[in-house]
Amino acid sequence: MAQVIFILNGPNLNMLGKREPAIYGSTTLDDIHANCRKEAEKLGVEIDFRQSNHEGDLVTWIQEAGEKGAQVLINPAAYTHTSIALLDAIRAAQVTVVEVHLSNIHAREEFRHKSFVSPVAKAVLCGFGAEGYLMGLRALAGYQRNPES
Ligand code: DQA
Repeated sequence: MAQVIFILNGPNLNMLGKREPAIYGSTTLDDIHANCRKEAEKLGVEIDFRQSNHEGDLVTWIQEAGEKGAQVLINPAAYTHTSIALLDAIRAAQVTVVEVHLSNIHAREEFRHKSFVSPVAKAVLCGFGAEGYLMGLRALAGYQRNPES
């Protein structure tokens, strides 16, 4: 059975392309989805790409990933900086998580420097724009093949 990677996107990421292009660029979430699909084909993994503006949806999807033995690549967006619920969900589901951000959150406002997700993430990518999603996918596919790496 192919490895499954959930790619979860938090609030306002449905606005990519129109949203603050000086920070987030012109790539839309549909573009990111299409690029992830191509990369997943090359890697031989299956992806399940979702977006929600609601914290509880993300919690439910993390739980679902845990039940299905899937890994998670997540851009929690603003919930990164606020959500103990996401932290708890990742801990409870015992899923391998890679956190990704388009922008370099550490080079931005101070309130973005804190992530509730990072302490329970296997790795964190930020500042690579949409390319970060592909890097995260490659990392998770490689990690699944060789967890010692
Ligand atoms: C973001 C960074 C967050 O601080 C912000 O709230 C977002 C997007 C990023 O991808 O750079 O919505 O996660």
